[in-house]
Amino acid sequence: LATTVPRVKIVEVGPRDGLQNEKTVVPSEVKIHLIDMLSEAGLSVIEATSFVSPKWVPQMADQVEVMMGIHRRPGVSYPVLTPNLKGFLAAVNAGAAEVAIFGAASELFSKKNINCSVDESLQRFEVVTKAAKEAGVPVRGYVSCVLGCPYEGKVSPDKVAQVAKRLYSMGCYEISLGDTIGVGTPGGMTEMLQAVSREVPVNALAVHCHDTYGQALANILIALQMGISVVDSSVAGLGGCPYAQGASGNVATEDVVYMLHGLGIQTGVDLPKLMDAGAFICRSLNKKTSSKVAQVTCKL
Ligand code: HMG
Ligand code: MG
Repeated sequence: LATTVPRVKIVEVGPRDGLQNEKTVVPSEVKIHLIDMLSEAGLSVIEATSFVSPKWVPQMADQVEVMMGIHRRPGVSYPVLTPNLKGFLAAVNAGAAEVAIFGAASELFSKKNINCSVDESLQRFEVVTKAAKEAGVPVRGYVSCVLGCPYEGKVSPDKVAQVAKRLYSMGCYEISLGDTIGVGTPGGMTEMLQAVSREVPVNALAVHCHDTYGQALANILIALQMGISVVDSSVAGLGGCPYAQGASGNVATEDVVYMLHGLGIQTGVDLPKLMDAGAFICRSLNKKTSSKVAQVTCKL
């Protein structure tokens, strides 16, 4: 296994996927400090915020302050979510050098999350990828609900593959496959990845596992065995999606790093510094960490 995937790129999504779901407003200074601690811990990709409607997601309404406040470390990328051209232009204006568009393999989820059908969303994303290409901004593409939908239930692997293929064809350099509600098992993951990898090269795929049913690490292991070397995770296991009720946070970055290092896979992440970042955000939010690794090593 270690020779199949010698190194994994972790995409830290806590400041966005984690904090978008908090009930209380997290001050911008706290978000900025968290992002700076994460870059200090050696994470090379940190999803910083979203340029979405503040009416839809009030937690991300301070996106400009956050982008202006962070200390950008050389070599670190700080992508942001942009659902449409308006969001893209605002993001670039605030200094974003990488963006992510986010679609779904489920019609009902697409409607609830971004207020349009899957086809309409792909048309909007074409506009974003065209503008991004002209501006020289790399675009990451998400597909949500790849292993199940909170509104439709089962999602067909072929539908996931079609949406992933469309995003890849329009120029996304990486496609992140999101188990938005964390219902997937290694069986479903294998089937879905087999379908998607027929349409998109494995080296352009990432997995994004929420851990609602405690399956995330097992699902990630399957992805590694299939040659995928990009894993999304969230410090302290923060988060969830406001439009997917009951979904818990992403798999904790601390737990992913612990597993990868145990497999002899390099990440570039300093685990003690990462745990400091996790402890900081849990103290600020007054909540317990969801990272198993952090639970045994620090008393909150
Ligand atoms: P809409 O209401 O259909 O948009 O929302 P609209 O184009 O009709 O415009 C309505 C208003 O929104 C207008 O303002 C626009 O200017 C404004 P008004 O005239 O009423 O004052 N607007 C915007 N404002 C700021 N930034 C923008 C923007 N666009 C329009 N970019 C929209 C459509 C997509 C904007 C809305 O549905 C939205 O913001 N949705 C975001 C939902 C979201 O952020 N969900 C969480 C992230 S996805 C996720 O967590 C899953 C993921 O982690 C992967 C996984 O786990 O599977 C990525
Ligand atoms: Mg997510």
